[in-house]
Amino acid sequence: MSTALSRIREQAPHVRPRIALLLGSGWGALTRRLSEAVRLPYVDLPGFPGAGVAGHAGELWLGRLAGVEVAVLSGRRHAYEDGQADGMKVALCTLRDLGCEILLQTNAAGSLHAALPPGSLMLLSDHLNLVQRTPLTGESGSARFVDMVDAYDPALRALARRAAADAGLPLHEGVYAWVLGPQFETPAEIRMLRTLGADAVGMSTVPETILARWLGLRVLACSLITNLAAGLSDTHLSHAHTLAQAEAASEMASALLVAVVQAVATARGA
Ligand code: HPA
Repeated sequence: MSTALSRIREQAPHVRPRIALLLGSGWGALTRRLSEAVRLPYVDLPGFPGAGVAGHAGELWLGRLAGVEVAVLSGRRHAYEDGQADGMKVALCTLRDLGCEILLQTNAAGSLHAALPPGSLMLLSDHLNLVQRTPLTGESGSARFVDMVDAYDPALRALARRAAADAGLPLHEGVYAWVLGPQFETPAEIRMLRTLGADAVGMSTVPETILARWLGLRVLACSLITNLAAGLSDTHLSHAHTLAQAEAASEMASALLVAVVQAVATARGA
């Protein structure tokens, strides 16, 4: 048993979540909707990432969301912090060992299309790993050759689309391009990303999807569009702008997550 897992078992002996949520920039409001919550700062969990970026709390929450047992990772380590893509490896291994089978990821992203304006929610149908880094460096054996077809689980995506429609929440779907950051893109880079088939761009998520697939977790991921990407509008991009836009949409984003978690729990095994 890993040390982080034993700490969790000490603090919350009866929790058995099947669904893990990983909250990106601006999605932290969801933790206010948890009941019976136990909050464990990452710094108390060996191997979990230390606090890093504004808007990322760095806490593991265990509790219930609309009655469904969940584990919530509020905050992630980004590859731009130390050049490594495996910052969430121990955290995700620990949640798998705790019994999680599904990872529901969220992030903030820039849009590459006027038809996907700030405030939109976009389900990831696929991704482009433009950073060409992996959290699996150093792993051995054949399990590291992870199949990335349908990395974003088609059945979970169908459930999410239905749950969003039932809740009256517009939900787009598209391809997410992972860039290292922390600088935003140049307008020329954004034109290149569009040519490559990306719909949104961001600095996270892809390493955790790779890790989750390696661990055998099913993955669903959703972007909150906080801005039109560089060169597509007159707005000056900044992290503060990303957070402000995310905050403005946080209630809608949380409502979507609740609807999706309920649908996934009801459909058990879908
Ligand atoms: N680019 C990269 N990452 C982002 C953006 C963006 O425009 N917006 C939010 N995260």
